[in-house]
Amino acid sequence: MAEQGYLTFALGKGRLANKTLELFEQLGIHCEEMKDKNTRKLIFVNEEQKLRFFLAKGPDVPTYVEYGAADIGIVGSDTILEEQRRVFEVLDLGFGKCRMCVCGPAGARELLQHNERIRVATKYPIIAKDYFYNQKHQTVDIIKLNGSVELGPIVGLSDVIVDIVETGSTLRENGLEVLEEICPLSARMIVNQVSMQMETERIRHLITSLRTLL
Ligand code: PRP
Repeated sequence: MAEQGYLTFALGKGRLANKTLELFEQLGIHCEEMKDKNTRKLIFVNEEQKLRFFLAKGPDVPTYVEYGAADIGIVGSDTILEEQRRVFEVLDLGFGKCRMCVCGPAGARELLQHNERIRVATKYPIIAKDYFYNQKHQTVDIIKLNGSVELGPIVGLSDVIVDIVETGSTLRENGLEVLEEICPLSARMIVNQVSMQMETERIRHLITSLRTLL
């Protein structure tokens, strides 16, 4: 595994990581170094508790966990669905709640109802493909974007988008709305399959403590 004797965590950068650290603090798991906003360090060690933490881009977290560079990862279920990595998903942490939706201008509703061949812009091509092809049996053209996906229908790149909706304010401010809901999302804990066997006791204990706390 990552380093003998240490349990290594990969955290998705941003809100998820902050929430995770708050939660861990309540369990007595601390990483003071990580709180320094000016640090350029990438990996943080708690020698006393034999823990290591690193921050990674969300979509890379399942990759680190699958290859065993991290024993445990905290990441959104959207990323787990999209990345399709061989990892164990062991716990719903209950925060970072949002929805994966098909969104667009109100006028696009009809295109969805009549199974028209439409263009779908998204950061999540796997999720979009699964939804339209396997669940709705609708042939669509998927266009991969890397962010600000709401621009798609506004500038005429696509008819609709598949994206995360949290408060709905990005949609509202851009004259778009939720047309169909694909699935609810939240932060999840994932575990490397070998670590789960080699470090069963420590990992089980962590899962149980988190479950009790949640
Ligand atoms: C996400 C998502 C939406 C927005 C939804 O974007 O892709 O654009 O948040 O949140 P809301 O419903 O509360 O408005 P993010 O901020 O991750 O940036 P991105 O557009 O670059 O992906």
